[in-house]
Amino acid sequence: MPVKKLPLLVANWKMNLSVKESVVLSKNLCEAYIKNKFQERLSLVLCPTFPALSGVAEVIKKKNVSLGAQDVFWKTQGPYTGEVSPRVLVEIGVEYVIIGHSERRQFLKETDAMIQQKLLASLSEGLKPILCVGETFAERQSGQKDLVIARQVSSALNGVVLTPESHLIIAYEPVWVIGSGQAVEPREASETALVIYQTMLDFFSPKALKSQVSIIYGGSVDPTNIHYFVGQGLLSGVLVGGASLEDKRFINLMNKL
Ligand code: PGA
Repeated sequence: MPVKKLPLLVANWKMNLSVKESVVLSKNLCEAYIKNKFQERLSLVLCPTFPALSGVAEVIKKKNVSLGAQDVFWKTQGPYTGEVSPRVLVEIGVEYVIIGHSERRQFLKETDAMIQQKLLASLSEGLKPILCVGETFAERQSGQKDLVIARQVSSALNGVVLTPESHLIIAYEPVWVIGSGQAVEPREASETALVIYQTMLDFFSPKALKSQVSIIYGGSVDPTNIHYFVGQGLLSGVLVGGASLEDKRFINLMNKL
C-alpha cells in the first residue's frame, strides 16, 4: 500500500535565536510533538542557525523530527572561506536545506545561477532541497508574477536529474508578504502552485512529481490561516518563519493541522 505523504511543516528560525534558545525551543517542541502524537499528522523540519545545528540534532534524535539548514554552498570541499559544504551538513544529521530564500537573494545577492548550483550540489549529497521562489511586490504589480516564478523554477532546475532517492520541495514565498503578518489569498497560493507544477513538467515526469516533489507555501503563515494552505490543491505543507519562534504559538499552529 502506498504510504500517504504527511503535510510538511518547516520552521525557519532565520537568525532570530541563539544556540541556547534554539536547543530549548527544539526540546519544548519535541515534547509536544510526542505528547500530541503530531508525527501521525505532519512531518516537522526544524531549521536553526548553522551553529545550533549540532545541538538541535542531539535533541531531535529518534524523535521523528527532521533537521534542516538555512543555506549551503555549491561545492563539497575546498578553499571557500566561510562556506558550508552539503557533505558536512549530511555528516551532522541535516536532511533538508533551504535554498534561494528571498532574504539571501536580496541581502546576499544570490543569483539564479548560484541557486541552481546549490540545488545540484545538495541533491548529489542526498539532501532534500527546499527551493524558495517568489515575486516582489513590484513584479506582482506589473503583472510579472507567473513569469518570475516560472523563470526562478526553470533556472534552478536546469540540469537537475532526480534519482529514485531524491526529494525536492518547492516553496512559494511571495516576497512582499514574508514577515508582514498578512498571508496571500489561499486561492492565489494554489494558482501559483499550479504555475510551479506546470513549469516542473518540462523537467520531470508526472510520476516523479507525485512521489518525489512537494510544493509548499510560505509567508506569514500562523495558527489562524495554516489550514488554508495545507492540502489545498497542490499545496502540501508550509514554511513558517515568525510563528515558529515561540513554543506555545508553534504548538498551537501544529494543532491546527
Ligand atoms: P514568515 O517567514 O512566516 O515570518 O513570513 C517565512 C519565511 O521567510 O520563510
